[in-house]
Amino acid sequence: MRVTFTVNGREQAADDVWEGESLLYVLRERLGLPGSKNACEQGECGSCTVRLDGVPVCSCLVAAGQAEGRDVVTVEGLAGDDGTLSTVQQAFVDAGAVQCGFCTPGLLVAADELLERNPEPSDGDIREALSGNLCRCTGYEKILDAVRLAAARTGEAV
Ligand code: FES
Ligand code: FES
Repeated sequence: MRVTFTVNGREQAADDVWEGESLLYVLRERLGLPGSKNACEQGECGSCTVRLDGVPVCSCLVAAGQAEGRDVVTVEGLAGDDGTLSTVQQAFVDAGAVQCGFCTPGLLVAADELLERNPEPSDGDIREALSGNLCRCTGYEKILDAVRLAAARTGEAV
């Protein structure tokens, strides 16, 4: 089947998609967007998180056909067209919240959605928003620091 949807603001189409093919597979293998990572393929780790009509989802659990006509944002959609990092991306760098980086795309998408919805999150809000994203390297403290930093910078910019 053919699936057409919007990815990072651009109309995209994928042909010959089979029934059970995941959105993650289509993004990575058919559309050349490898930012969303495939770690568990079981909805456990969050490394494949993208936004589907604004809502963070594990793209490994979404059938590509379910994205028909919908709006998808991947980590590639966070930076500016000129490659300038978004506030959340820059905060992850500055806070040292990136080690191996495998979890980072999913965390960035989830954190970006949180700050759009709630620009002044409590630590509890941050922990809840990122609870579906696992990281084996950082111990999470620097990730919390990064989201706090991004929230503070967003507040300063308003
Ligand atoms: S790869 Fe999708 S949740 Fe782990
Ligand atoms: S930085 Fe390695 S899994 Fe998070």
